[in-house]
Amino acid sequence: MHICVIGCGYVGLVTAACLAEAGHDVICTDIDSDRIDKLNAGIVPIYEQHLDAILSSARKARRISYTLDAGEAIRAGEAIFICVGTPPKENGEADLSAIDHVARQIAEEAQSSKLVIEKSTVPARTGFELQRALGAYSRTGNIKFRVASNPEFLREGTAVADFLHPDRIVVGVEDDVSAAQLREIYEPILEHRFHCPVHQGKCPAEHKAPFLVTTINSAELIKHASNSFLALKISYANVIADLCEKIGANVDEVTHAMGLDPRIGGQFLKAGLGFGGFCFPKDVQAFIHLSASVGVDFDMLKAAEKVNKQRIDRYLEKVCKALWILKGKRITVLGLAFKANTDDIRFAPALEVVKRLVDQGAHVRACDPEAMDRAKHSFPQLQYHEDPYEALRDADAALVCTEWDIFRTLDWVRAGKLMSRKLVIDGRNLYSPAVMRELGFEYYSFGREPLSNGRTASGY
Ligand code: UGA
Repeated sequence: MHICVIGCGYVGLVTAACLAEAGHDVICTDIDSDRIDKLNAGIVPIYEQHLDAILSSARKARRISYTLDAGEAIRAGEAIFICVGTPPKENGEADLSAIDHVARQIAEEAQSSKLVIEKSTVPARTGFELQRALGAYSRTGNIKFRVASNPEFLREGTAVADFLHPDRIVVGVEDDVSAAQLREIYEPILEHRFHCPVHQGKCPAEHKAPFLVTTINSAELIKHASNSFLALKISYANVIADLCEKIGANVDEVTHAMGLDPRIGGQFLKAGLGFGGFCFPKDVQAFIHLSASVGVDFDMLKAAEKVNKQRIDRYLEKVCKALWILKGKRITVLGLAFKANTDDIRFAPALEVVKRLVDQGAHVRACDPEAMDRAKHSFPQLQYHEDPYEALRDADAALVCTEWDIFRTLDWVRAGKLMSRKLVIDGRNLYSPAVMRELGFEYYSFGREPLSNGRTASGY
C-alpha cells in the first residue's frame, strides 16, 4: 500500500521504517528541513536500536522516501499516518495545534479519498474534531476522508521490536472499510511476513497479536488509560519503597513477590527516581485534564503525579544527608537519559537532579553512552566523560540516575580506587547493598536501607 507518514520523530520514523519493512511504499514528510536533509543523506537523526539498519535496507529497496513537500507526500499516500507532536500546554492539556495544521494540509492537498490515521497520542474525541476539521478545510468538499485512531505502544529503546512484535494492535474506526484497510496494512506484521532485524530473521515462535477493532473514542482512551496505569504502578512501587525505608523492609523483595501474582504482574514495579520521558509525564497530565474537562474526578492520577515529582526531592535528601554540603563537591552523575537505551533527555529525572546540584554549587561531571550531546545544550558547564571510570576519578560521590548496562556492570573495585570518597547514591537500585558495603562503599538506594540503628522497625 502507498503510505504517507507525517512527522519524522521517534514515532513517525519507527512507524515508517517498520511499515516499509512490512513491504509497503512509504513516503515521509516533516516541517524540519534539516531532518529531511539528514534522512535523505542516510543519516538517522535519533538513536533507536535497529532503526538505522531497517531504514537503510528500506532505502536500498526504494520502499521509503523523504520530502519536505507535504503536498507531495499527502497526494502519494492512500493511508496517511499523523505522527506529529502533541506536547503539554502550561495547564497540562495536550497541545493539538500540530494536528490541526496537518488536517488543513491534508484537506487542501489531497486529490483523492484518504484514510487519515492518528498515531500521535491524543485525548479522546480528537478523532471527532479531526473529521470535522478535514471537512471544514476541504476546498471542494468532494474528497472523502475517513478518520481512524491507531495508538502506538512503542517504548523508546525497543520501539522497532515493539512495532514488529506487538502485544496488541488497536484500531479505532467508524466504518468497516477503514478497519479492512488497517488490517491490510498490518497483515504482514500479524503474519510475521518481514525480515526481523531484532532476531536476524529468526523470530522465536510467538502468538499472533490480537487485532482489536474499537470505536475511535475507545482507541484514544486505551492509549491514555494504558500509559496512566503504568505510571500509577511505578508511583505505587515508589510509595512502597518509602514505606519499606520507614518500616525496615526491602522493596525489591516486596515488589518481586507482588509481581508473581499474575493479576499484578512484575513489570513497572521498579522503585527509584520515578518516571520521565516525553510520554508518561505529559500523558498523565493530559489524562487528568481530559477527565476534569468532562467532570470526572481522577485524584488517583494526581496523587501518582505528585509522588513522581517528589522522587527527586527524596533523592536529593539522600544526597544531602550523605554529603552534607554540596557546594564545591565533585559529584559524578552516571546516566542522563530518562531511561537506558535511548538518547532522549526530555523530562529526564537525571537532568532535574543535575540542575539541583548545579544550583547548589556542586562540580558536576556526567557520563552517558548516548545522551551527552543533547545534555550539553542545557548544561554546557558540566564536565562530560565518555568513560565512566574517568568520570569517577577523584569524585566525592557517584549518583546513578539511569539504568544503563555499562553502569549495572561497572567494576566498583576499580572505580573505588579512583574515587576520592567511596560513596554511591543509587537512584535506580542497580546494586546489592550488601555487596557494595562489602566493597567498602557507603551506599544508599531506594527502599532497601536498614534503619539507622541497624535494626528493623519490628526489632528483628
Ligand atoms: C511509554 C510506554 O511504555 C509505551 O508503551 C508508550 O507507547 C510510550 O510511553 C508512548 O506513549 O509513546 P517510554 O516513554 O519509552 O514508553 O518509556 P518506558 O519504558 O515506559 O519508561 C517510562 C519511564 O518510567 C522511564 O523514565 C523509566 O525509567 C520509568 N520506570 C519504568 C520506572 O521508574 N520504573 C519501572 O518499573 C518502569
